[in-house]
Amino acid sequence: MTAPVLEAVDVTKHFPVRGLVKRGAGRVVHAVDNVSLKLYSGRITALVGESGSGKSTLARLLAQLYPLTSGEIRLHGNPVQATKGKAFREHVSKVQLILQDPFASFNPVASIASTLRRAVSIHHAGKGGDEQLAVIDDLLTQTNLAPPRQFTQKFPHELSGGQLQRVSIARALAASPEVFLADEPVSSLDVSIRLGILNLLRRLTEERDVAMLYVTHDIASARYFAADTAVMYAGEIVETGPSETVTQQAAHPYTQLLISSAPDPSRTDVKRVKDIGQPPSLISPPSGCRFHPRCPFAMARCREEKPPPFELADGHTARCWLYADNPEPAASERPDAQ
Ligand SMILES: Nc1ncnc2c1ncn2[C@@H]1O[C@H](COP(=O)(O)OP(=O)(O)OP(=O)(O)O)[C@@H](O)[C@H]1O
Ligand SMILES: [Mg+2]
Repeated sequence: MTAPVLEAVDVTKHFPVRGLVKRGAGRVVHAVDNVSLKLYSGRITALVGESGSGKSTLARLLAQLYPLTSGEIRLHGNPVQATKGKAFREHVSKVQLILQDPFASFNPVASIASTLRRAVSIHHAGKGGDEQLAVIDDLLTQTNLAPPRQFTQKFPHELSGGQLQRVSIARALAASPEVFLADEPVSSLDVSIRLGILNLLRRLTEERDVAMLYVTHDIASARYFAADTAVMYAGEIVETGPSETVTQQAAHPYTQLLISSAPDPSRTDVKRVKDIGQPPSLISPPSGCRFHPRCPFAMARCREEKPPPFELADGHTARCWLYADNPEPAASERPDAQ
């Protein structure tokens, strides 16, 4: 495979705990801990996990919306530190976030035309008047909002959720980005229109050779939509690999739990794992493997030592001691890895 476009390398984000209680002072929420992830041109990577597992935080770190606690974000192999000013604007022009709720991401009193004109004037400086309008028409047509003039004079509340999400994709396209970070892009939409939006995102990824991170709760949609899947639990990535392998031969007990709690109707051989609890506190996460308090296979070692990612097959890794005797630790964990 070619080099990644955007990469998180051993990235950690801790948020300070704020509160009235003095005991909270100095304590942190371990939202993302030592996570590495690579995004490739023309390829969709799904990031799957329960609520609070750190998916949005990781997407925001990739977008440079927060400073990192430690680790590095690399664009084309070069470290980026661009949380403000010109460097941030340059990063945003290459890496665009698409959020879950389109109504929350638009100015309710600005027409679609004026919102898009703003994006076009930022990313296509020098274009004015008719040229700007032509770009806007083209963006709306590409996102299947045709005829475009039927939408430009409207305000956000005059569009359906699906139409507005298409406008937010059009706005992201105005930057001609190299990376889309789509944070649950269809979760707030009616089930009947989700597929249309996902198909649009997939087409744009392929046609424009864009790298895409697809954040979702729904592991079944990851199989259909994304080439690769990374599973996140309590701030850590616990399994990665081709989506087909991760969903059909899930190795980590947490992935198995996710699959059995959101069954794919086309499967008959799902290994059932009983749900035995809730996600842990991220202020004082469990020792060793963070999943051990919920894991039906937990051993003494799991309580004490954090498992490295073990490579099970080409590109398929699981951070689980069940695979310790199996193969070598994954390449990224070997001492010679950079
Ligand atoms: N700005 C912040 N300040 C403090 N804590 C935060 C902040 N943002 C997120 N967190 C905490 O970090 C953890 C991870 O949150 P995050 O939003 O990344 O999870 P998520 O996987 O996206 O969840 P969901 O599926 O519900 O969107 C949570 O415990 C959350 O409360
Ligand atoms: Mg989220």
